[in-house]
Amino acid sequence: MNKEKILVTAALPYANGPIHLGHLAGAYLPADIFVRYNRLKGSDILFVCGSDEHGVPITITADKEGVKPKDIIDRIHAINKDSFEKIGMSFDIYSRTSLPIHHETGKEFFLEFLKQGLLKEKKTLQFYDEKANMFLPDRYVEGTCPNCGNESARSDECETCGALYEPSALKNPISKISGNTPVLKETSHWFFPLGKFQERLEAYIKEMDEKFHWKENVLQYCRSWFKDGLQDRAVTRDLDWGIPVPLDDAKGKVLYVWFEAVLGYISAAKELSEKRGEPDLWKNYWQDPNTKYIAFIGKDNVVFHTIFFPAMLMAWNDGRDDKYVLPQNVPANEFYNFEGKKFSKSRNWGIDVIDFLKAFPADPLRYTLAANLPEMRDTDFHWKEFQARNNNELSAILGNFINRTFTFVFKNFDGKVPPQFTLEEIDNEMIVLLGSYPAKTSALFENYKIKDATLEIMNLARAANKYFNDAEPWKTIKTDKEKCSTTLNICLQTIFTLAELIEPIIPFSSQKIFSMLNARPVAWDDCGNQHLSTGHQLNNFEILFKKIEDEDLAPFLAKVEADEIVETKTEESKIEDGLISFDDFQKVQLKVVEVLTAEKVAKSEKLLKLKVSLGTEERQILAGIAKQYAPEEIVGKKIVIVANLKPAKLMGMESQGMVLAVEGEGKLHLLNVDPSIPNGTRAK
Ligand code: MF3
Ligand code: ZN
Repeated sequence: MNKEKILVTAALPYANGPIHLGHLAGAYLPADIFVRYNRLKGSDILFVCGSDEHGVPITITADKEGVKPKDIIDRIHAINKDSFEKIGMSFDIYSRTSLPIHHETGKEFFLEFLKQGLLKEKKTLQFYDEKANMFLPDRYVEGTCPNCGNESARSDECETCGALYEPSALKNPISKISGNTPVLKETSHWFFPLGKFQERLEAYIKEMDEKFHWKENVLQYCRSWFKDGLQDRAVTRDLDWGIPVPLDDAKGKVLYVWFEAVLGYISAAKELSEKRGEPDLWKNYWQDPNTKYIAFIGKDNVVFHTIFFPAMLMAWNDGRDDKYVLPQNVPANEFYNFEGKKFSKSRNWGIDVIDFLKAFPADPLRYTLAANLPEMRDTDFHWKEFQARNNNELSAILGNFINRTFTFVFKNFDGKVPPQFTLEEIDNEMIVLLGSYPAKTSALFENYKIKDATLEIMNLARAANKYFNDAEPWKTIKTDKEKCSTTLNICLQTIFTLAELIEPIIPFSSQKIFSMLNARPVAWDDCGNQHLSTGHQLNNFEILFKKIEDEDLAPFLAKVEADEIVETKTEESKIEDGLISFDDFQKVQLKVVEVLTAEKVAKSEKLLKLKVSLGTEERQILAGIAKQYAPEEIVGKKIVIVANLKPAKLMGMESQGMVLAVEGEGKLHLLNVDPSIPNGTRAK
């Protein structure tokens, strides 16, 4: 049988800060688990990642610290490489986009597109900060939207009303870098015609989804991009940090990061080829149509991997014989938050991987994340959950089973695998259960259901403990030595199977278990069978999972509390005298929506279930207005909602927003808006 060839990439983390637990759960851990599983399966894998080292955020961090961008990337690259090693990421290479080999790849793609006549040069006016001596990227300029008056509009686009305009139309522009008023200066850039590829991209995604079942969250992001229509996108910008545009008349211009960073996956493979002295190695994966390419990312990177990058690869492939493979799947995760809120460096909220690993070992963290991955929706890290997963599952279930088995075998059977005699029903049941696990867990891993696979494997350890309890070897050692021997033999076979099944999730512990068993992993599909022969000598054993005590957690819980207090204090000080700043008000997104459907909620006197349209999306909202309004009264009405309220569950249903109403004469009145206002318009 031919080995399946799989190329796996994990988003290249920005080298302007250390990675935190959110990054791990979003992309890296699922990628590593998938890769480790596939290696055991016998697939031929190439797993690459690296630091994304160009772009404005890095120059800004450097300016803030008064150092050069190079100093920042060198420092952060080292920290992240170290973090990844310590957490057990099994990359074949962790590369960097500042390497010459990557600059070459970036230039090569740019020049190929230029040669094909794809890139269009356009003159544009762009904001220039005369104090900072630089052109300002869109998100570093803020001003008033010419269309709706939103005061935090971007230079060419208003996120509130969706208007697109020329930067010259923006009112009261402010540079976010210096606080100065920037001037408009003419500049020229090259643009990639994404629109030309829309039809083919839609067909590609449709085909991949039909064959390989893409995740619904990913498809939804794609659909909304297609719906808006793909536009030309600049592939260059005015900046002095990045890959220089390889043309004589392009001084001071670099390739836009969105364009080159994704090519870092290719450069990383090339670097590995060089290191191994196998010039064709990277081509064997990237340019073999039989390669299955899977791109692991977090949800903020979907469009780059499902639309921009595939379009670039299509464009390259159109003009060349050395054709690249496109992603077969992009199993993006949602966000992983920290104790109920988004990770935030500036607000000191969260914990970096490197700091975490100073206090706790890698495997309990890997297991905790794997058991609660944000595969379908955002999930959270909680210190208490971490403690519980370690103490009540890893230690009390898996660790306990292994420990009691080894203790028993060393005490009663000299540390050697005892023979099996007559199998009884409970023995046969256990053997059948073991045999069922490789296929059962394969199906989950292959469909990126890593969280379910993790929980399923822990269930086997649960069943193993039950088997040990029910077989009562501490009694049979006195009454029926053969039965006791059979029980312990099967317990040891079970430990073997568990050690292999759980390798992708907790590789460090798996390695320890194999070394205790004095054995090595087998092919995945075979790991549910019996591999320890009678008389096989076991090695000395050790405690695998140390309990995490309350006092171990105390400093971390104290920090969460302290940060929470600081945050509420700042919030409170802002609302002294009952006044809030304009910024605070701006945080509340009030939007006009149209009520599409309304229905009563069973067993509730107050609630109506509404479906509303915001123009670009639909939402379900549960509103406490059933006493005042009959469903048919409000269908078709335009009302105002708070659009960025955290979703809440009411009567088991999700409410994604809140309607605005005023109370008068003991009655609620919905805030009505003129029917001519478009859905989604923001109220000010
Ligand atoms: N640097 C980006 C981030 O950390 C990820 C880029 S993925 C790439 O979110 F493929 F574009 F590099
Ligand atoms: Zn606007």
